[in-house]
Amino acid sequence: MIAEKNLVFSVSTENTSYVMAVLKTGHLVHLAYGRRIASVPDISCFLPVEMTPVGTLCYWDDENDDIFPDNLLLEYSAPYRGDNREASFIADAGNGRTAMDLLYKGYRIYKGKASSFPASIESVDGCETLEIELEDSILGISVFLSYSVFPSSDVIVRSAAIRNGTSGKLSIKEAASLQLDIPRDDWTLFSYDGAWARERYEHKRRLEPGITIIDSKLGTSGNEHNPLIYLQNGKGEAYGFNLVYSGNHRELLEISPFGALRVITGINPYCFEWILESGESFATPEAIMTYSPDGVDEASALFHSFINRFVIPPFWRFRTRPVLLNSWEGCYFDFDEKRLLELAESGKELGVELFVLDDGWFGNRTDDTKGLGDWYCNRERFPDGLEAFAERIHALGLQFGIWMEPEMVNMDSELYRVHPDWVISLPDRTPLKARHQLTLDLSRNDVRDFIYQSVSSVIRLTHADYIKWDMNRSVSDVFSHGSELRSQGEVLHRYIIGLYEILGKLRKDFPEVLFEGCASGGSRYDLGMLLFMPQIWASDNTDLHDRVTIGEGTLRGYPLSTLGAHVSASPSHQSLRTSRIDSRFNIASFGVLGYELDVTKLSDDDRSAIRDQIAFYKKYRDVFQFGDFSSLHVSDNQRFWYTTLGDTSIALEIQTFGEVHTGRNDRLFLPFAADDKTYRITARREHIPSSCLGDLAKDCGQSMSEDFSITVPGAILKYHGLPLGPQFTAKGFTENTRILGDYGSRMYIIESI
Ligand code: GLA
Repeated sequence: MIAEKNLVFSVSTENTSYVMAVLKTGHLVHLAYGRRIASVPDISCFLPVEMTPVGTLCYWDDENDDIFPDNLLLEYSAPYRGDNREASFIADAGNGRTAMDLLYKGYRIYKGKASSFPASIESVDGCETLEIELEDSILGISVFLSYSVFPSSDVIVRSAAIRNGTSGKLSIKEAASLQLDIPRDDWTLFSYDGAWARERYEHKRRLEPGITIIDSKLGTSGNEHNPLIYLQNGKGEAYGFNLVYSGNHRELLEISPFGALRVITGINPYCFEWILESGESFATPEAIMTYSPDGVDEASALFHSFINRFVIPPFWRFRTRPVLLNSWEGCYFDFDEKRLLELAESGKELGVELFVLDDGWFGNRTDDTKGLGDWYCNRERFPDGLEAFAERIHALGLQFGIWMEPEMVNMDSELYRVHPDWVISLPDRTPLKARHQLTLDLSRNDVRDFIYQSVSSVIRLTHADYIKWDMNRSVSDVFSHGSELRSQGEVLHRYIIGLYEILGKLRKDFPEVLFEGCASGGSRYDLGMLLFMPQIWASDNTDLHDRVTIGEGTLRGYPLSTLGAHVSASPSHQSLRTSRIDSRFNIASFGVLGYELDVTKLSDDDRSAIRDQIAFYKKYRDVFQFGDFSSLHVSDNQRFWYTTLGDTSIALEIQTFGEVHTGRNDRLFLPFAADDKTYRITARREHIPSSCLGDLAKDCGQSMSEDFSITVPGAILKYHGLPLGPQFTAKGFTENTRILGDYGSRMYIIESI
């Protein structure tokens, strides 16, 4: 699917083509990225490539006075040789020389994909790569651009590698993973931004001339701005971009004075420097990109399929994930072995499959001011040791999972007392703390060995089936006391390389252990972590209303199988909002379901509701975990979520505020129904605890919503909608009232028959 003719390169996926060409000056220019073109087109189909003479700008030379680098669509660019837009590569080749030409040198097409960076997506059968070398022949610097395609996928994987062919040191200040220049259009940028407990809210803005930056400087991909972005134009076409990277990232969008859009994604150049000795190379993280003629919804589906098939660790691809019970919000730090066993037994009765012992089991960790780094059992809580506790959990017929925060240390810990130089901190300042903790310096070999030993010992000792790998602060005081760096500008990138090295070893040694990523909730939700950990705790905020926005934003870029979602207590510990247990379940079921509340203290109603929820979830688990997700916003107050696998769809109607007697005429749509098919729709029977109904309970005489089953032609579901009118109300209520209530929701199973 990759071909070259007369120095025109075509990288084609199933439905898309990405076309570039070499100009007579040696510039590698972008010609097209969009719907598939069957054969390699002639460059004349695209000329002139924006080569109009423009005012005061520099032209290339006297023979090429019609070529203005600032007005070319370039595949990779460096400063001050006629292109005045942001560069994707900035390096100091000595004496402050940063101006350089990146001109075509050669290419190769090969089966497979190189994987020089420690966290690259693995090659698979049918994977193919085009590598184009650009060179500054005067300085002796080469850039190798890679474009890889995967079988039956519309995603292209890109990266760049820099080789220092100079005779001295090369100081790299910036090296992007991807540059894409696209012609003038009306672009809307979609980004996923937020903060703790409010991760990945979708924001849209129209791009205007100038630069827009989405980035992270937190040391992690962060909860402030995810590396995922989309661009959609007026015709409804969309491009999607994401990075296979967990550290500081930057997505830069620049509309040039002539209307072209430049997209640059990669490591954030903020305070970054990487030194290459003569003859050495530097590889950037990989970036993925996709195109869909049908907008962001479709581009997102292309990413989902790619991630499920090629990013998730091989053992866990399409492997069902257990329903878990996590001890955190049920106990926080207030537990002993007896209490945990009661919790686990109670969870087992409800149908839970995995018990997760969260924070507080180690060292002197009785609150969050101390103990991090001391990964040995707290004998006051577990008199017979952790091993015995894990055995007791296994004996209940449950899997055993455990929380660790291996990248961190409290100053009040054995580890810090022995190794104060193991933290990232400046020599002459007291390091800033966050959540009373400091960051270990993963650029150091001794620290990496310690972390690997700590985690692997816990897994071996407890036969753990699951590890929750947490990371609860942003970085500060960036400085390493280790000897493995050539420049302090390398620390944060070396940290991520070090992290991937540890995770790579753990994945190799324990492929069957399920790792769930966590960073104060969803502060490190990215493709780099997903290479090692098939699921990520999306947010510490489990409030059902907020989780709708967090879920939708997250699912824009990442499939359902990656999204850890829990049912927790009411009122919510984050928002104080009260809600029905079934409404909380409905939202949490889209993804990998868990429970995180004290299940020993539930009412009988709630226990019976949870038992039914888990049984229902298990029945449709593959649809919830591996289905194709989509959503439909009917109004500000009402939306639908869908997940579809094969002939089964589950639709979730979500309401914000209950409206009474509005004549809203609610309808259930299935936008992707086939006109000529027939569908059976069944409403899931829900629990409405009589406590929710107060005085009404005695009149209505029942506490379950009615289930119903009905058969409907596809065309009705798709175009007209199935009225969800009074026929589906609970008995005893006024005819026109549907009892979803505030933040209520209702689930429908739709099967094509
Ligand atoms: C972080 C996590 C929580 C929990 C606590 C434990 O905040 O996001 O889920 O594990 O740490 O301290």
